[in-house]
Amino acid sequence: MQRLTGRLGGLAYGGDYNPEQWDEQVWKEDDLLMRRAGVNLATVGVFSWALLEPEEGRFDFGWLDAQLDRLHGNGVAVDLATPTASPPPWFTLAHPEAMPVTADGTRLTHGSRDTYCLASPAYRRAAVRIASALAERYGTHPAVAMWHIHNEYATVCWCEQSAAAFRSWLRARYGTLDALNDSWGTAFWSQRYGSWEQITPPRATQWHHNPGHTLDFRRFWSDEALAAYREQRDAIRAHSGLPVTTNLMLPGYQVLDLWRFGREVDFVGIDHYPDAPGTDAAADTAFGADRARSFGGGKPWLLIEQGASTVYAGDRTLGKQPGEMLRHSLGHIARGSEGALFFQWRQSRAGAELWHSAMVPHAGADTRIFREAAALGEAVARLGELAGSTVRAQAAVLHDADSWWALDTRGLPSAELDYPGSLRRAHRTLWDAGVTTDFAHPEDDLSRYRLVVAPALYLLSDAGAEALHRYVEGGGTLLVQHFCGAVDERHHARLGGYPAGPLRTALGIRGEEYRPLAAGETVALSDGSTGTVWSESLRCEGAEPVLSYASGMLAGQPALTRHGFGRGTGWYLSTRLGDPGYAALMARLLEDAGAAPEVAGLPEGVEAVRRHGEDGRSWLFLINHGGQPARITVAGLDLLTGAEAGPDGLHLPAGGAAVLRTVD
Ligand code: GAL
Repeated sequence: MQRLTGRLGGLAYGGDYNPEQWDEQVWKEDDLLMRRAGVNLATVGVFSWALLEPEEGRFDFGWLDAQLDRLHGNGVAVDLATPTASPPPWFTLAHPEAMPVTADGTRLTHGSRDTYCLASPAYRRAAVRIASALAERYGTHPAVAMWHIHNEYATVCWCEQSAAAFRSWLRARYGTLDALNDSWGTAFWSQRYGSWEQITPPRATQWHHNPGHTLDFRRFWSDEALAAYREQRDAIRAHSGLPVTTNLMLPGYQVLDLWRFGREVDFVGIDHYPDAPGTDAAADTAFGADRARSFGGGKPWLLIEQGASTVYAGDRTLGKQPGEMLRHSLGHIARGSEGALFFQWRQSRAGAELWHSAMVPHAGADTRIFREAAALGEAVARLGELAGSTVRAQAAVLHDADSWWALDTRGLPSAELDYPGSLRRAHRTLWDAGVTTDFAHPEDDLSRYRLVVAPALYLLSDAGAEALHRYVEGGGTLLVQHFCGAVDERHHARLGGYPAGPLRTALGIRGEEYRPLAAGETVALSDGSTGTVWSESLRCEGAEPVLSYASGMLAGQPALTRHGFGRGTGWYLSTRLGDPGYAALMARLLEDAGAAPEVAGLPEGVEAVRRHGEDGRSWLFLINHGGQPARITVAGLDLLTGAEAGPDGLHLPAGGAAVLRTVD
């Protein structure tokens, strides 16, 4: 990453650039407008396969040579993409077996994008061939500053080629069919496999799938995507020493194990499109950004795509409010992004995404959107000095792809067990409390966090249960929420009481019976608050009850427990508290754990996050998402305005933002 920001002389600003959709006159205007907007990085070639390789094995690089030279001449560096997310029609016709097949057996064809099976040998060969050809030609081109592989690895396939690759993956994982049968529990429903060939991807079937089967297929697919990424990355590395990454789709993304991807990219790159307007979009931005930073081990990362003026809201896109482009971009940069890029530079006039927003809208440069894009470019340029600085979090929310996938299984006791929703809620509650939060894997060493929250850790490995035990014993404060640690990594129930053994010891409880609540049912708790979704019959084995059930069959039994264990404290919450109760619990835990908000006593709607440099300097981002002006007692030089926040503090207008340089 340092190589990229060093080359750019600061943070990155720009977006996807698709000059092949336009003519020379527009290119000339692009040059001018990119200068006006302070664009220094353009992502080129993401969907250019059909132009770059018009026939199998015949390359045409002439047009790209000219575009790269032009961008370079205009002072814009290039994030050069491999175009493998959208194979051209000739590819389908030459390799029909490489087209994806859905779980119900429908074979898809070209006409959209992402029409390939990642496990298809023909596709993988073609992808590596074009990646190698690009790297060979442009590996040392002066315009190119980084490599961008593919686009949002996501497409899953259930075809015969996927089946063959799945079987190889299973053989490597289990060695013998007996081990596989045991792991999947095929003694149930007469599912025993007598040969490897009998195993298929979990295609459409009569009723519930085998949960071990579906979980392994998801693990396999994530590994397959990672293998496809690695092949292209290594092909590029043979010709270029520049950083290589891919744009990961966040945050509702569940096809990849992003911890593993995070280890294979030179830096994490994400796309982020909030799915709700207003404060929810700001909280969602923080959610995506905190995840991106965490998947990269805390290192700086890059926001590769965002929308200039739209947020997705179910079945429609809503316009961003004036100033939201700046606030969302700063929200990402505050949490470790080394810049802000968009999809895309110029709004397309044709094609499937002609109504997708862009930095230069259909109406041209004389628009609010372009003026805001240009002002944002100026703001990003003023922040160059903080490149390389990092974010320190006091709290962590546990995230694990296996748990997400396992909880996404049909046939669980309640359809309201919502993995992403539970993670978002825990993160949002900490965000509302002003506390900077990481995501962490349950098997990590968590000792640097004062508070760790496990909102939806349904599946927990033995190693994870031991790591959590160690964390509490060593002095951490841990909150474990309902139905956590109920199954092991094979999706087998934990026997002898929930959750997993070593975690049970740290929490001082034994879960005996789970009792999901009916839709809309509430259960009263001893302090007058209520729980929904879930309840559990718990026995305290060392823990003290903090709240108990006040109604229903579990009346008098513990609902929330606290256990002093070793030097730390393990809390267990066996129901879903209402928002006020959950916020109050989190506030209490933060206080007990000694975790403080970045700036105490902030007015509602003001977000504060700090980036720390190695030289003792730090940069405090203050973003006012609310509708009221705010006065905040902080001091420092605001990089955005060049003004010093004086003794009576900083005045932040409604919707305003500041980035204060301070000394730690
Ligand atoms: C991203 C994708 C872009 C564009 C964008 C629209 O997921 O990478 O190509 O489709 O969404 O929001």
